[in-house]
Amino acid sequence: MEKDIIFEPLAFRNLTIKNRIFRSNTYGNFDNPDGSGTPARIRWEKKFASGGVGAILSAVAPIHSQGRMAPQSATIESDEQISFWREVAETVHAYDCKYILQISYGGSHLGSFCQTMTLELIRKTVQMYADAARRAREAGLDGVEVDATAGGTGRLLYDLEQGETQPPVNLIAQFLSAKVNQRQDEYGGSLAGRSQFLLDAIAAIRQEVGDDFHVQVKLGVLDTLENCIQLCQWLEAAGVDAIHIGSKIPYIQTGNEDFPLDIKGNHIDNAQAIKRSVHIPVLCTGGFQTATYIRHVINEGFCDAVTLARALIANSDLVHIFIRGQDSPDQPCTYCEKCRLNLVENPLGCYDLSRYDGDYGKMSREIMSVYLGT
Ligand SMILES: Cc1cc2nc3c(=O)[nH]c(=O)nc-3n(C[C@H](O)[C@H](O)[C@H](O)COP(=O)(O)O)c2cc1C
Ligand code: SF4
Repeated sequence: MEKDIIFEPLAFRNLTIKNRIFRSNTYGNFDNPDGSGTPARIRWEKKFASGGVGAILSAVAPIHSQGRMAPQSATIESDEQISFWREVAETVHAYDCKYILQISYGGSHLGSFCQTMTLELIRKTVQMYADAARRAREAGLDGVEVDATAGGTGRLLYDLEQGETQPPVNLIAQFLSAKVNQRQDEYGGSLAGRSQFLLDAIAAIRQEVGDDFHVQVKLGVLDTLENCIQLCQWLEAAGVDAIHIGSKIPYIQTGNEDFPLDIKGNHIDNAQAIKRSVHIPVLCTGGFQTATYIRHVINEGFCDAVTLARALIANSDLVHIFIRGQDSPDQPCTYCEKCRLNLVENPLGCYDLSRYDGDYGKMSREIMSVYLGT
């Protein structure tokens, strides 16, 4: 029988994943405002590991509390946090699932409070990325993902070029943006200058964790695809092991904010162009839910693996569903966005009542199970 690419292992330079389905980064209000992690967070990650995904990409893990993009995310800002992340690692490893920590820093997004970073502050912040990666390694996690996507409102740099005024809420994305980055020194100006902060962070991470620890970067598309390709080539040369293509909020690239959206594979063409230009694996996020389509994009060389957020929030056992031979779940994610919209005040989970046959109690029990351990 012909092999099914979905269940073929993916070998990065320093890490092998058992299949091609990754849980994408999903922030979910599970942690404490002081930056410590919680049992609910561990149960949340366990849900996907036991559901069969090959690897989990964490939600934003701030490298410093000041750079928190989301109020209740466990940080990786000090050695005290290592024991929590070790527990996460041990929990998901029990299911032969790998765990990659998304190290992240929210830049200034408060308009008038914006300030130009001094070279000393740049040096210190770069070292924070490196220290965070060292802690991830000490915790037994399987790699880090440097978060370079826009974040916050999720505006891609591309949108800024189209006249969007809301800056990306992520420090690296702010450096990369020709609109936001007005620096006149070696960290601004040309694409090379704007990329320097990210490249310095990668160099510092490598210095701290060595060459045999998995390091990947999550990127939105820059002002042009050509620039994005160039940056990916520089990242590869700097020792990055994989590129994750996509954005934090998927409706941006469609230019359509009416829900539900048809965002199936909305980053796939960019992923393909980047995959053709680098030698490291490319992961792609955005609207994957059926085995047929996932198989298609990997077999046709658009990307090496797919990362899913909402389809797995709806059906955390999607991989087992595929193993049973089903092409899609009985109650698929409708991409209604209610999970994300509820996140402002409520726990993360699937809030589309139609998926629970209109039974509100069933929906509440499912969402609260992560908190209550039921
Ligand atoms: C509730 C929720 C939280 C998310 N949190 C993050 C995050 O912390 N970091 C990140 O890079 N992307 C985040 N994303 C974006 C997802 O990782 C993913 O890239 C995007 O939703 C597209 O995938 P999907 O169509 O399978 O949902 C989040 C998405 C959702 C729905
Ligand atoms: S709330 Fe909507 S978008 Fe979110 S997981 Fe459920 S069906 Fe999917």
